[in-house]
Amino acid sequence: MNILSIETSCDETAISIINVEKKNQNIKFKILGNKISSQAKLHAKYGGVFPMMAKREHGKNILHVLEIVLREAKMYTLPKKVNIDEKLNNTALKMIARENEIVERWNSIIPLLKKPNIDKIAVTIGPGLEPALWVGISFAKALSIYWNIPIVPVNHMEGHIFSIFPKNSKTFEINTKENIFPMISLLVSGGHTELILIKDWMKYKKIGQTRDDAAGEAFDKVARMLGLPYPGGPEISKMANIERLSSSKLFKSSGPRMREDEVPDHENLNNLLSLIKLPRPMIYSKDYDFSFSGLKTAVLYLIRDLKEKNSNILEEGNIKQKIAREFEDSVVEVLTHKTIRAIKQYKINTLIVGGGVSANIYLQKIIRKRLNDDKLDINIYFPNKKLTGDNALMIAIAGYFQLQKNKIPKNINSIKAEGNLSL
Ligand code: KG4
Ligand code: ZN
Repeated sequence: MNILSIETSCDETAISIINVEKKNQNIKFKILGNKISSQAKLHAKYGGVFPMMAKREHGKNILHVLEIVLREAKMYTLPKKVNIDEKLNNTALKMIARENEIVERWNSIIPLLKKPNIDKIAVTIGPGLEPALWVGISFAKALSIYWNIPIVPVNHMEGHIFSIFPKNSKTFEINTKENIFPMISLLVSGGHTELILIKDWMKYKKIGQTRDDAAGEAFDKVARMLGLPYPGGPEISKMANIERLSSSKLFKSSGPRMREDEVPDHENLNNLLSLIKLPRPMIYSKDYDFSFSGLKTAVLYLIRDLKEKNSNILEEGNIKQKIAREFEDSVVEVLTHKTIRAIKQYKINTLIVGGGVSANIYLQKIIRKRLNDDKLDINIYFPNKKLTGDNALMIAIAGYFQLQKNKIPKNINSIKAEGNLSL
């Protein structure tokens, strides 16, 4: 079976084609084509993702991304003689009537191609930004009509769970008989922070979630306060790691210690540094919920207080690094603490961490360390670096599993964007 998958829930336009072969309990996957086109640079200018701008960019990019992936999969074939079924083409075009950017280029690409060897189209229907989701959904519907291929709707968060399977090669396998349950998935992205208990394939129970901002969102907002570009997660993380490295060197150095008069010339610096303390929100609450909005506000007040003492303080020494570190420490401690508690309570066999924030090296390190300290000998999986963020490969895999469990919608008009779709 060949699956074409489409992901446009936020600021990445992503398409992939995979081949799936099932032999008893063993499922073999082959990546035939895979492309992620990121809009992050565009949104960086504005410090965040604007839904309508994301929608327009998806529209501008999606046909091109499809062409690249079809070529990679060797499915881009231009027949000598083209027979365009005008009626069918017009019905397909109706599906993308609201996506001007796609309509403008459709006729110069799709009707000229030989129908590719694809059996199913998997598309993200939510959660995410609805105008952005609609681009992928409408495009999937138009292709579905023109090529007569059924659509499988996919939940973006389920995609993040499946994102841990592909490794560094073009092929990977999943053995459905392997004893990996019960499982906990910590999903941490720009829009979500959730702990999901998984007792069997496709059986999800959300045991906790953020009550306000998502972890990634907090990284992005704090980065903005520190004058760092979007997306903020990687920027904060870089700064925090530099700070950890330099303070540990200072500590461990066998050479002479810094002399008093070598301390940066700010007279109250030491006093100010002692102010850089942030809360660990809800770390000891009995539930598995999170809250990062207060933490973000705490950073805002901290910066305000520091600036009151010295208006240039953020440019001083390594103040920004120290704030970044304390912030990252707080987020990582809270996420890790609750995840470990859930692992103990539910006697978990496997931990899966997914979503953009799972790229965070310090989070990865601390989770592993805590599991080790507490002698919790379980399987732990983080996605391959290229698959921590949004991608279409994870949507194709989740789509395949959906096909095993659920019927395909008969009427494609019932497929709709669901911005708040839950697992
Ligand atoms: O999963 P994702 O690509 O998109 C959503 O579905 O939201 O996640 C994007 C989020 C952004 O907030 C970004 O700042 C964050 O993931 N992120 C990170 C890191 N890399 C990306 N956060 C912390 N540390 C990182 N290394
Ligand atoms: Zn995501």
